Amino acid sequence: MNDSNDRSQWKSSYGFLLAAVGSAVGLGNIWRFSFLCHKNGGGAFLIPYFVALFIVGIPLLVLEFALGHKKQGSAPAALEKVGKEWEWLGWWPVIFVMFGIVLYYNVIIGWCVNYMVMAFRSIWSGFPWAEDSQSFFYNDFLALSDTVWSLGSLRWQILLATILVWVVNWSICFRHVEKGVEAACKIFMPLLLLLTLTLVFWSLTLPGAMQGVKAYLYPDWTLLSKKQVWQDAFGQIFFSLSLGFGIMIAYASYLPRKVNIIRYALITSLADTLYSFVAGFAVFSILGYMAQEIGATVHGVVTEGPGLAFVVYPKALTLMGNLTGGLLGTIFFLTLCVAGLSSSISIIEAFTAAALDKFKIVRARLVTITCSIGFVGSLVFCSRAGLFWLDIVDHFLNGYGLMTVGLVECLLVGWYYEHGRMRDHLGQSSGKPIGALVASWWDWSIKFIAPGSLFLIIFWSLRGEISHPYGGYPVSAVVIIGGGWVLLTHFAAVFFSHLKWKLR
Ligand code: TRP
Repeated sequence: MNDSNDRSQWKSSYGFLLAAVGSAVGLGNIWRFSFLCHKNGGGAFLIPYFVALFIVGIPLLVLEFALGHKKQGSAPAALEKVGKEWEWLGWWPVIFVMFGIVLYYNVIIGWCVNYMVMAFRSIWSGFPWAEDSQSFFYNDFLALSDTVWSLGSLRWQILLATILVWVVNWSICFRHVEKGVEAACKIFMPLLLLLTLTLVFWSLTLPGAMQGVKAYLYPDWTLLSKKQVWQDAFGQIFFSLSLGFGIMIAYASYLPRKVNIIRYALITSLADTLYSFVAGFAVFSILGYMAQEIGATVHGVVTEGPGLAFVVYPKALTLMGNLTGGLLGTIFFLTLCVAGLSSSISIIEAFTAAALDKFKIVRARLVTITCSIGFVGSLVFCSRAGLFWLDIVDHFLNGYGLMTVGLVECLLVGWYYEHGRMRDHLGQSSGKPIGALVASWWDWSIKFIAPGSLFLIIFWSLRGEISHPYGGYPVSAVVIIGGGWVLLTHFAAVFFSHLKWKLR
């Protein structure tokens, strides 16, 4: 079964695009992009963002699509065909995302499920966080412990929701891609669009919304000379476009032979960017409303990530009264759930594709085992120290793992193997040779600009790491948890790459 001729295939290019955009659009678009804009110069941040998109994001997306499509394989299979000794580079991201990033990503979706239910119930029984949303989140909901090492007991509501999230992931991925991921994304993505537009238009009508939008987009050009602004832009591009995850390689491997890869990369990345940009209006309108209600500045109330979604946003909801706040909250957290799920299934699919390519196991059994191990791995993030662990693992895998994979991919294809043939493949598969301008843009990016800028960013971050250890945690915790996760997944990747290919 399952040799290269009867691998799964997308039913339509539209289905593929929905799945690729589904992977790209996730929690990061909603709670991170708008914050980064606000922090890094408002509208002016769009400049570093688009620069990063055009010199690294799109070229790398083209590269990952082309790799998967030309070699017709998941990340390890495709890279093994590039060069035997590079197979580990395909395994590493799918392993560290499958047994790292998605473990806590699913727990966060579990938090969203909890908050969605609580918001819905507040319509008639009032908000449980009405007194103090911050204390509620950290003390009552997470029951955060004092240190990284005191795990305490499991939080049962979080645990239940996390089980639910894993079951949904499992039930989608155990079917072949066209009946699983593709069918799910055909429901998720239109739903996500509808929910998001509802949020945006509703939020824009709130008093004070314009103050928020101003804080989101009012440009401050002076910040563009700061390194951090550029680091943030590149980091956001990687996480948001699912680059360096091994996902886009697997997704492209299910495409039919005749496709226009460059066009698909443009559509995927622009849709992702547009989504982030539009979602920002919903987030900042709410912040503007809240600032006006409590007589503060937008700057004074804004935070990013979990703090935004689970502390500030819930507080804003309480100001609107039970009915309005409860309803808007339900929609907001449902939006996060849908955006998150369409991303998390993408890595399960990518890991599954990798293991299927190599070991020819029965898909349903493989997905059941993978999701069960994944669920067990999520448990530590459901503990009372979960947020600490999440923060550390995220910092290392997300901050270094993805960009390192991207950097090595560029060097590998740009300098050592088949650069010309890969470029020709872009032309052949679309039916006409690519234009000279596009060809030289891609060449320059993959050879010089993308690897150069990634190297610089990784170097700056590492230097910062040494001068002040991450997040004020004990150095031992950072080294053991962060470094350990990076090393272990790396060993696992090397180990997997040494196992024999079945039926070859
Ligand atoms: N792009 C997603 C976001 O912006 C992140 C993401 C994509 C992801 N694929 C994933 C996270 C797989 C975990 C697992 O949020």
